Amino acid sequence: MSDAAKARAARAALELVEDGMRLGLGTGSTAEFFHHALGARVAEGLRVVGVPTSERTAALCTELSIPLTTLEETPKLDLCVDGADETDPALNLIKGAGGALLREKIVAQASARFVVIADAGKRVAALGAFPLPVEIIPMARRPLSETIAGLGAEAHLRQAGDAPYVTDEGHWILDCAFGRIEDPPALARRLSSLAGVVEHGLFTGMAERVLLGGESGVETLLP
Ligand code: A5P
Repeated sequence: MSDAAKARAARAALELVEDGMRLGLGTGSTAEFFHHALGARVAEGLRVVGVPTSERTAALCTELSIPLTTLEETPKLDLCVDGADETDPALNLIKGAGGALLREKIVAQASARFVVIADAGKRVAALGAFPLPVEIIPMARRPLSETIAGLGAEAHLRQAGDAPYVTDEGHWILDCAFGRIEDPPALARRLSSLAGVVEHGLFTGMAERVLLGGESGVETLLP
């Protein structure tokens, strides 16, 4: 999908932003279109504060002069805008290709509204073609990989060059190829019950809407 489709979705989300809002600032290429558009509005006088969902987003938003805060200072947010790797018709999501799923879920959970922006290629009939990222404690890698194999997925430790990829919170990620996830909420509960799993990239029952950018417009998906 083109950058133009991502930018269209980002601009549609910007229309939801009001003066004085406390924002969650997502991670990924689509979220970055939103940050650039938001930065332009801030330069024109819009007053907002934002909690970034990754070090990468924090660096970009600092460059764009978007005022940042933390959940310690600002524990309740009005609106979180973030991307996704897949969305199904019930607005269950897979997130985490960018490695920021833990902070993304914490920030989305702190937000009264969670709005997802994506290009139309992210819409699927059922989640799971995209490998599900699962953030883990390093010492649990092998037993968790075996447990996840029992749940139907081959788990691959995400690499950064020759070493394991390390998240902003110091954990590792298993990318779990399920193929097709029949019951996302049930799998989410099962993964959350495993000691050593810090968080997983299934976001169920969280998105208020998905703004899907296409080649000529934006479609709004509601649950
Ligand atoms: C980051 O960890 C992810 O959850 C992203 O939001 C997701 O991968 C979407 O990224 P793109 O907008 O780059 O496709």
